[in-house]
Amino acid sequence: MAKTVVVFRSEYGSTKRYAAYIAEKLQADLFSTEEAKEISSYDTIIFGGGIYAGALNGADWLKKNQETLSHKKLILFTCGLSNPQEPKNLESIHAGLQKCLTEELFHHAQIFSFQGALDYKKLKFTYKGIMTVVFQALKHKKERSAEEDVMLKSREMAVDFVDVSKTEDLISLVKE
Ligand SMILES: Cc1cc2nc3c(=O)[nH]c(=O)nc-3n(C[C@H](O)[C@H](O)[C@H](O)COP(=O)(O)O)c2cc1C
Repeated sequence: MAKTVVVFRSEYGSTKRYAAYIAEKLQADLFSTEEAKEISSYDTIIFGGGIYAGALNGADWLKKNQETLSHKKLILFTCGLSNPQEPKNLESIHAGLQKCLTEELFHHAQIFSFQGALDYKKLKFTYKGIMTVVFQALKHKKERSAEEDVMLKSREMAVDFVDVSKTEDLISLVKE
């Protein structure tokens, strides 16, 4: 059977929840980017990272391992607050990936996007600063999308959209 590893970069745990579920379903190994030292023995590599200011957290790890990854079945998943079921959001996730990855990686990977969680109160200082700027901009916007309303709401209360059942297609693709 093909050997599979799930590698993740997760700041507050939502990407890790998806990664752990996928690894369990596929009986695959599971490592954070810090732990994933030896990946060349795997046939399939699944990478998951959160989206921060439009970019993929962990893009540096992917680029560092590009040569090895180019010979593997590579599946990428993103975890962000915006709902990827909305075509507009998915388009912007892909545009962000295209910017932070190399062209080779972007085209080689099969990409899935899932929805994450945000608890403003638990954010580290620098992220709180970024989010304060985002909240200010959103507050003054005349017309906000449903996504932007959710983002704004997360200032007052923690939001959690993690739904591991959404990984079904990704899991089936690996099993193929
Ligand atoms: C500073 C900051 C910037 C963020 N930028 C985006 C973004 O551009 N798009 C998005 O969909 N979610 C954004 N998010 C939400 C995160 O992607 C979401 O919290 C995700 O679940 C984080 O996953 P992790 O905890 O596994 O790192 C941002 C969160 C923070 C704290």
